[in-house]
Amino acid sequence: MNNFTFHNPTKIIFGKETHYEIGKELKSHGIKKALLLYGTGSIKRSGLYDATIQALKESEIEYVECDGVVSNPVISHAREAVKVAKGSKVDAIVSVGGGSVLDEAKAIAAAALVDDDVWEFFTGKVINKALPVFSILTLAATGSEMNGNSVMTNDATQQKFSFTSPHTYPKVSILNPELTFTVDPAYTAYGSVDAIAHVIEGYFTQSSGAVIQDRLSENIIRSVIESTEIIMENPHNYDARAQMMWSATMALNGLPVVGLKDVGFPNHMIEHALSALYNIAHGAGLAIVIPAWMQWYADQKPERFERFAKEIFGLQEAGKGIAALKAWFHSIGAPVSLAEVNIPKSDFPDIAANAAELAQMWGLGSDYHEKEILEILELAI
Ligand code: NZQ
Ligand code: ZN
Repeated sequence: MNNFTFHNPTKIIFGKETHYEIGKELKSHGIKKALLLYGTGSIKRSGLYDATIQALKESEIEYVECDGVVSNPVISHAREAVKVAKGSKVDAIVSVGGGSVLDEAKAIAAAALVDDDVWEFFTGKVINKALPVFSILTLAATGSEMNGNSVMTNDATQQKFSFTSPHTYPKVSILNPELTFTVDPAYTAYGSVDAIAHVIEGYFTQSSGAVIQDRLSENIIRSVIESTEIIMENPHNYDARAQMMWSATMALNGLPVVGLKDVGFPNHMIEHALSALYNIAHGAGLAIVIPAWMQWYADQKPERFERFAKEIFGLQEAGKGIAALKAWFHSIGAPVSLAEVNIPKSDFPDIAANAAELAQMWGLGSDYHEKEILEILELAI
């Protein structure tokens, strides 16, 4: 295991009824006025919007609202929200929603304190400060609730880029699994694929080896599989939703990869190109890319893939493990081929070019050129 420093500053409040604590948390952090950011309607339908407003009022927190954050959030909307945050002189951003709302909240939080255009943070400008971000999470998937990452699409240029910063970890993330009861089967499936993907990236690409990290990763994957199967039968099963929610948080809060060397995110790199070009749901894109990438990559780490097959599915051969994962993605309703989402072969060069730009930005440029990305896409037909 390599030397490491692990510091995750986000306070997690987990469990039933916990969303009412948002007002108290804001108050205890000295917040007087917040920007309340949310998506396209789910929190109004579920009653969470009313509950949040009640909690803010009870703690005498002033607020301005900004709604309409879309899944795969776009920079044009973030720019408008930054204007609201600056104009209203808020001293915090409160995100109520899934990963998309939270990612946009982080971008607004950074841009509200500077004169630069918010997109500059996604093309390399360093974040030196940000308003505090508070989150009530409504969808188990991205891990954004306990990391400093933000992913954003530039709707003018079709680039889906990201940043990460120690300044944009949420101060507090409230995780009430009951709030995920209303997530539909499709997004439940995509969230499960995403959580598994976050673990798989490090598990296969790392080159240092650490038994504790292997076992932690395998247990997260197994927990996601078990809980998803229960949720698909009964979306209101609290324990399964709770297991899923915490597994997804752990999958990308940094813990599974501490002490590991050479961790890369090649599946995310290709998926972000798919989302950028076709606005496909992130987890759906991953379910298509991962089995293809695994087939392409398996010969480079045969013992890793054999271990995966055995530990996750009780199977003896690497290839059978990959096939079992693909079949499981399919069984929960995620697409597993580009044909299923109507992406034709004639588009592959555009996808490869888009992903290759990300490869350069993510330090994967020596392993993934357009040629290699095209080879992987060919396996996803
Ligand atoms: O628009 P609203 O009303 O919020 O509806 C959302 C949206 O339509 C809905 N939804 C959320 N909670 C719900 C609900 N519907 C019913 N009941 C609820 N409780 O679900 C849809 C999807 O929501 P979204 O926030 O887009 O999903 P997710 O959490 O999967 O976030 C996806 C975004 O996160 C990025 C992805 O690329 C994508 O842009 N990622 C962020 C990461 C990070 N910050 O670390 C890492 C990931 O790898 C990922 O890239
Ligand atoms: Zn992801």
